[in-house]
Amino acid sequence: MTSVYVPIYDAMTDTLTPFPLPAHRPQVVDFLRDRRSNLAKAMAGPGPDADTRDKILEIAARVPDHRKLAPWRFIVFEGQARSSFGQHISTAFMAANPTAPADRAIFEGGRLTRAPLVVAVISSPVDCPRGTPKWEQELSAGAACMNMCLAAQAHGFAAQWLTEWYAYDEIVNAALGLETGQRVAGYIYIGTATTGSLPRPRPNLENITQFYGQN
Ligand SMILES: Cc1cc2nc3c(=O)[nH]c(=O)nc-3n(C[C@H](O)[C@H](O)[C@H](O)COP(=O)(O)O)c2cc1C
Repeated sequence: MTSVYVPIYDAMTDTLTPFPLPAHRPQVVDFLRDRRSNLAKAMAGPGPDADTRDKILEIAARVPDHRKLAPWRFIVFEGQARSSFGQHISTAFMAANPTAPADRAIFEGGRLTRAPLVVAVISSPVDCPRGTPKWEQELSAGAACMNMCLAAQAHGFAAQWLTEWYAYDEIVNAALGLETGQRVAGYIYIGTATTGSLPRPRPNLENITQFYGQN
């Protein structure tokens, strides 16, 4: 199953070796068909080691991206960084809910500590001189989130794509260093599953699919 494409450049002909043609990969098909997220609150350590984490990020960045703009970036939270960033989440929560009990602020500040690894995917669209619409760039950020989940799950880890309230909070986003037009596409929680996920109802294909030209 292992196939690693190694680019080979031929200077004589100024060509690159093309990728192999698409092949049927039943294991991948099964994985995609049965894949399921796990709840962040049901995650534990260990998380991926540094090498695996980097592979997951590399795969996340390997998404369709019209005109190669890379209109997304990743902010990684591991170890102590999760709770130190949590202080901003806690502060933002208390600013929005000044009468909330103190233990709630502590709970909010601990959100990122539910998993050993959390990655904020930041949608960072640019004014493309050649006209790639911002919408397409934002879609690409969503694709990066999904690929990150897939990559983590394919490595045997639990993953969940969350936004919760703090992805939309100005105080929290300022602490992330977001610039105008940048948004959190998701916080991807990655860890070890402590319990299996139950089946989730999926849409009936008939309800979401139309065959153009047929009734
Ligand atoms: C952009 C986005 C944000 C999400 N935010 C949340 C969230 O804040 N809370 C939540 O319970 N699920 C959230 N979800 C849903 C879960 O990530 C996930 O779709 C659900 O648990 C089922 O996942 P599965 O189809 O991979 O099993 C979000 C999904 C997306 C696409």
